[in-house]
Amino acid sequence: MFSRPRRAPEELRSHRYLGKDDLRSFGHRSRQKQAGFATDEFAGKPVIGILNTWNDLISCHAHFRQRAEDIKRGVWQAGGFPVEIPVMGLSETFMKPTSMYYRNFLAMEAEEVLRTYPIDAAVLMVGCDKTTPALLMGALSANVPSIVMPGGPMNRTAWRGEPLASGSDVWKFWAERGAGRLSCEAWCQLEDHIAASPGHCMTMGTASTMTAIAEVLGMALPGSSSLPATHSGHARMASATGRQAVELAWQNVLPRDILTRDAFENAIVTLMAIGGSTNAIVHLTAMAGRAEIPLTLEDFDRISQCTPVLANLRPTGQYVMADFFDAGGLQALLYQIRDLLKLDAATIAGTSLRENLGDGQIFNHDVIRLRSNPVCSTGSLAVLRGNLCPDGAVIKPAAAEQDLLKHRGPAAVFRDYPDLKARIDDPALGLTKDHVIVLQNAGPLGAPGIPEWGMLPIPKYLLQQGVRDMVRISDARMSGTSYGACVLHVSPESWVGGPLAFVEDGDIISLDVAGRLLTLEISEEEMQQRRSRWTQPEPRFSRGYGKLYFDQTTQAHEGCDFRFLHSDGSTDAEPSIY
Ligand code: FES
Repeated sequence: MFSRPRRAPEELRSHRYLGKDDLRSFGHRSRQKQAGFATDEFAGKPVIGILNTWNDLISCHAHFRQRAEDIKRGVWQAGGFPVEIPVMGLSETFMKPTSMYYRNFLAMEAEEVLRTYPIDAAVLMVGCDKTTPALLMGALSANVPSIVMPGGPMNRTAWRGEPLASGSDVWKFWAERGAGRLSCEAWCQLEDHIAASPGHCMTMGTASTMTAIAEVLGMALPGSSSLPATHSGHARMASATGRQAVELAWQNVLPRDILTRDAFENAIVTLMAIGGSTNAIVHLTAMAGRAEIPLTLEDFDRISQCTPVLANLRPTGQYVMADFFDAGGLQALLYQIRDLLKLDAATIAGTSLRENLGDGQIFNHDVIRLRSNPVCSTGSLAVLRGNLCPDGAVIKPAAAEQDLLKHRGPAAVFRDYPDLKARIDDPALGLTKDHVIVLQNAGPLGAPGIPEWGMLPIPKYLLQQGVRDMVRISDARMSGTSYGACVLHVSPESWVGGPLAFVEDGDIISLDVAGRLLTLEISEEEMQQRRSRWTQPEPRFSRGYGKLYFDQTTQAHEGCDFRFLHSDGSTDAEPSIY
């Protein structure tokens, strides 16, 4: 596919830094020697930047220091010169208010690192949720040859003989504890077992979704995203990724050669077939914005309506990523839906997507379903419209109680997350399972960072009555490991004066997923009166990253990227070497 003629060493970006007979190149070469490298170790070789998102607080990437060494091994083998560059690790668990607040920060860092250093190709070390879109967004904007090394899911694990899933089971057991059915001692034991190895969350949460998407977009080696982090094949894949990065540098295969409209359509089909995370909608929209490819919520809804869910993986289904790998992994699943894919799409492996699918053998037909026996025939994700969400909202019907997908009930409104935490369990509110819980000011600007608060808690007294799902609405996101009848990404958000801001206790809200409607049952006149009484909250930041974030972040349906980082068709100048 990309059997382009190899470039001459003089055509590499790094040649301008290291290859010329001038003062600056003298300085660069002398500093390579200061680092202990002889001339023949780097002269005339592609420089491969290994963007490592490791740090001590991103436990999903605990194996990344070793994997960086594995990548370097491959780069050396292929005749390249590896340079490891630490970039911000976005830890899903530790970053507050949410790692999403910093996705664009990492994307900017990656873009500028790739632009300023003498890098001919990059290996993007990703895994924990936002690292994948962030580094891909940066690579797209810098448009330097790049390849993704997916970090791989963590090992399957069990507790008291029962399979356990990171993320999804935290919510499940927290609800059990709230219902008084789980002791403190048992809850503490779960801490020892729930995340039992390096690797990202082992469900089809956001991390697994985004690495699968990186693969089907053509930016990672075939089969790489399903490999468990601790499998010996993962180290071999890392080494092969390093070797392929050298080839990409010689052939100058650019991210924008790979990330075409067809590639994004393939990504959306895959998102639906794997029953992937709602977060992928925001990330894919942002990534497409960097590539000047218009993606709308309707693209997601259209493809959802004709794509079956075939991966029987939690939180939609039953199994975890290690089972998916054993059953044949992403390639086997893609083979099942090959008629829905644009198979001529190019990939960084130098092959087409068609060639990457192999023979599509499935080794467990309950984990990866045949088209004749899908987990759901269609409708993994749905896009809603209506007077409560003029610019759209998202729900994951496959992970909700089905009888809630058409629902009408009175609103119980919480003005922000602290208000929700303070009052949700107050029996005086008298909530029933028919209420619709509404959280305001949890969106891109209101929270800020559109955190994963969207699986709003069910009151303890209802949990004790056996209630496990309710209709919940917010302008927040939801963890890819979460589940429930949660309407998310309501746009425009309440903080900027979206209609969600005007909902009051007792208002009737109707949800009709089949009809794609979310309606606040008040008159337009009443809506206008409430709007006229509303005042926008004061901006939270007057300086620093917070101000940049507030000034530039778009709404959920636009991808929450910074406006000035959307591609406008112009080409950024290569840095001069003075
Ligand atoms: Fe890192 Fe779930 S916490 S992927």
